[in-house]
Amino acid sequence: TVKVPKDKTIDNTLAIFKDGYNFIPKRIQNHHLDVYETRVLGEKVALLSGIEGAKLFYDTSRMNRKDALPKRVLKTLFGEDAIQTMDGDAHTHRKLLFMSLMTPDALQELYEITTKNWAHFTKKWSSMKKVTLYDESRELLCRTACEWAGIPLAEKEVKKRTRDLSNMIDGFSAVGPKHIESRRARKRSEEWIEELILQVRKGNLEAEKGKAIYEMAMHKDLEGQPLDARMAAIEVLNVIRPLVAISKFIAFGAVALHEHPETQTRVALDDEYLFQFAQEVRRYFPFVPFLGARVDHDFTWQQYPFKKDQLVLIDIYGINHDPKIWENPDQFNPERFIDWDGGLFDLVPQGGGGYYKGHRCPGEWPTIEVLQASFRYMTKHLGYDVPKQDYSYSLKKMPALPKSGFIISNVHFKN
Ligand code: HEM
Repeated sequence: TVKVPKDKTIDNTLAIFKDGYNFIPKRIQNHHLDVYETRVLGEKVALLSGIEGAKLFYDTSRMNRKDALPKRVLKTLFGEDAIQTMDGDAHTHRKLLFMSLMTPDALQELYEITTKNWAHFTKKWSSMKKVTLYDESRELLCRTACEWAGIPLAEKEVKKRTRDLSNMIDGFSAVGPKHIESRRARKRSEEWIEELILQVRKGNLEAEKGKAIYEMAMHKDLEGQPLDARMAAIEVLNVIRPLVAISKFIAFGAVALHEHPETQTRVALDDEYLFQFAQEVRRYFPFVPFLGARVDHDFTWQQYPFKKDQLVLIDIYGINHDPKIWENPDQFNPERFIDWDGGLFDLVPQGGGGYYKGHRCPGEWPTIEVLQASFRYMTKHLGYDVPKQDYSYSLKKMPALPKSGFIISNVHFKN
């Protein structure tokens, strides 16, 4: 019989920080199975990778999300009792609410708002000596997200809201002051949006049907009850917070354009290539390292005895770089998507499986839309120099980011 490989050390919590994005790949990729056992925070944890591992992770008859996320993540990144923690019919019903926001018209509008804001920012940047693209694009996306979601945003609060929305994301894995600030950012943001939800319900704030703020305010759960105002606010934040997070892919995309100058003209002119480039940015660069679920009931898979309630982690970064799935995975090559068959379990930067039953990110299309609008604008209309700087990134630091935030100078309109 074949033995399922496992760590011999007693606890590997610290190894997560030491190995970063390679925590699971390092353990699993040299073995013949897609499962590996380790111990994290005193729990016996099953690590899953590969297409087969992803299929198991997204099999809702065998995995669930109840208690899969640590409290510290809920208090910062996601919010308590929101869609990420739901299972079964209640989850599907909530997911439909999110998916209803992603109509072709709404996505087209998102593309247009994003492009408009790139034009505004290009004008502003043209009078600045240096521009840190990561910082500036967060504000650009905060404005974009609020407009798209139907949220009024006063000029004087833009910086504060941008900071809070990004601190919620970056503080969940931190300790000490950064983590505490992340919790405060969540509390402030929830209070801000909760007030707007109440205004929409009273009819004091005009909101258009189809906009996130309106749909979350008016949504009825499976029992026909409206969401608690705080819950509705948390779900609105589940739309605008990740939209701001796309700034990480924009900074990484800028690195790719700079390191592969031959891609620039095609990104500017060729729609299919633009799509392939955006997909390759999502595959190649590190963002989400892994995701967690819990085992629904005892079963054996690939000879490994999964135990009810056991924590399971799926290797998101590793699957996007799995040599069994991708040819030369560590090469940046948009053309690999020319004949990609759109598999549900191979390109998983935003989760895998279907949208409705499982937890795959409902924001995948908006993300691609924002990236396409941004990369098109950057290559077609944004003239800039890239001064000497260290834009490298470390796979040991989660979430990863180019060190310099990608600095550009001499910004001007092209043509
Ligand atoms: C879920 C990544 C953008 C809304 C997820 C998941 C990942 C992810 C990995 C979890 C999948 C799972 O649990 O199995 C990303 C990345 C983004 C992004 C890397 C781009 C930077 C967006 C956008 C939106 C969004 C733009 C909204 C417009 C959500 C929601 C969930 C989710 C609501 C929870 C879905 C559920 O539990 O069923 N995302 N996302 N995300 N994402 Fe995104």
